[in-house]
Amino acid sequence: MSSTPQGSRAQWNSRTGFILAAAGSAVGLGNIWRFPYITGENGGGAFVLVYLLCILLVGAPVMIAEIMLGRTARSSPVNAFRSLSSRREPWVGVGILGVLAGFVLLSYYSTVAAWAVHFTFLSLTDSIAGGSADAIKGLFDQLTGNVALGVGWQLGFLALTVGVVSAGVTSGIERCSKVMMPALFVLLLVLMANSFTLDGWNEGMEFLFGMRLESLTAQSVLEALGQGFFTLSLGMGAMITYGSYLSSKDDLTSASLATAGTDTLVAIMASLVLFPIVFTFGLEPGQGPDLLFVTLPTALAQMTGGAILSVLFFVMLVFAALTSAIAMFEVAAAYLQEEFGATRKKACLIAGAAVAAIGIPATANSQWFGVADNIVSNWLLPLGGLGVALFVAWRMDAALRRGEFEAGSRLAGFYGTWLWILKYPVPVCIVLVFLSAVGVL
Ligand code: PHE
Repeated sequence: MSSTPQGSRAQWNSRTGFILAAAGSAVGLGNIWRFPYITGENGGGAFVLVYLLCILLVGAPVMIAEIMLGRTARSSPVNAFRSLSSRREPWVGVGILGVLAGFVLLSYYSTVAAWAVHFTFLSLTDSIAGGSADAIKGLFDQLTGNVALGVGWQLGFLALTVGVVSAGVTSGIERCSKVMMPALFVLLLVLMANSFTLDGWNEGMEFLFGMRLESLTAQSVLEALGQGFFTLSLGMGAMITYGSYLSSKDDLTSASLATAGTDTLVAIMASLVLFPIVFTFGLEPGQGPDLLFVTLPTALAQMTGGAILSVLFFVMLVFAALTSAIAMFEVAAAYLQEEFGATRKKACLIAGAAVAAIGIPATANSQWFGVADNIVSNWLLPLGGLGVALFVAWRMDAALRRGEFEAGSRLAGFYGTWLWILKYPVPVCIVLVFLSAVGVL
């Protein structure tokens, strides 16, 4: 049973507040950093298409399922599975796995967020403009080589995250998302308008949308699926937790789709900011994680107005990272409150200390982020998503499920389609992608 009585549970002030918070969770480093760099590594076009299919056929239906689970149980992931199944069943494991994945995720997410904070600082102090390619590469190497500097920014970033979450669901998370998400969108529009004027715009469009099927491999399909879960914040309980604060009168289906749609739009827009810049200066799109922290600043350093553009870009990146880190952290905070009856502040302090304890070694060891990201994004999140899909489609009470889907919904007529997708294509796709990734297929 959930230990939080329904009446006393926090609730978003409005549906828009929920959508902004959920979009804040979804839109993050995943859209502005991870999506463009793995698209670059996987050769563009065809990968984008597979990714869009993953969002539409797997991600969006699972997002509806997660938000539904949270709202039905009105509790964090572990208790949601516990209260909606019986004690002898293993479903609660999906919730526990999610909370654990969240800790690992936040440990390296905050490492990369710290890079974004450092580059905001470098932009504000005008240390990028005019720098040669070697000088810019040197800036990034200095950062990754200087553990104290990285950890310093990381702890600052985590402190901000903990601060917002401990202020509460509406006065912390919702309020912060209402300011940062619109600001992020405006920054993105300004940056995209600038990229539109560049010589590399067409090449950027071609790279993103031109079909090069030969560049697609089983590994790239696994990465597209992993990215789908990562970018929509699925598979680790964040959407279950946010859904638990959603009013039962709100239309959860269209709110989920609005969130998934916004997230996809931002990933494409961010790519349309980046790739034209990269191509205008004759740089390589396939540099991996360095794309944002070496390739982009190298181009910005040579560009008229580059100094301002880099401030705008990195501030936008920090906003995006913060609203996502908040969502990851809320999973742990909500869990500790429910499970141990801790106050929000105390839960935040304990979870914050735990995240710092695994986050600091993550920043200190430059190999960790690659290893952890591969395990979490490509395996744990899809596995969590599989658990959610199987539970909601096959185990959850059918009347309850239908009622939740249809409550106040303009999309009530799609119930059957959604359920069918969740029952068959979603699990089959995830399992097939896993099998092909381990070489069985
Ligand atoms: N969706 C976030 C991003 O794209 C990452 C995230 C994953 C946030 C899981 C919360 C939970 O950056």
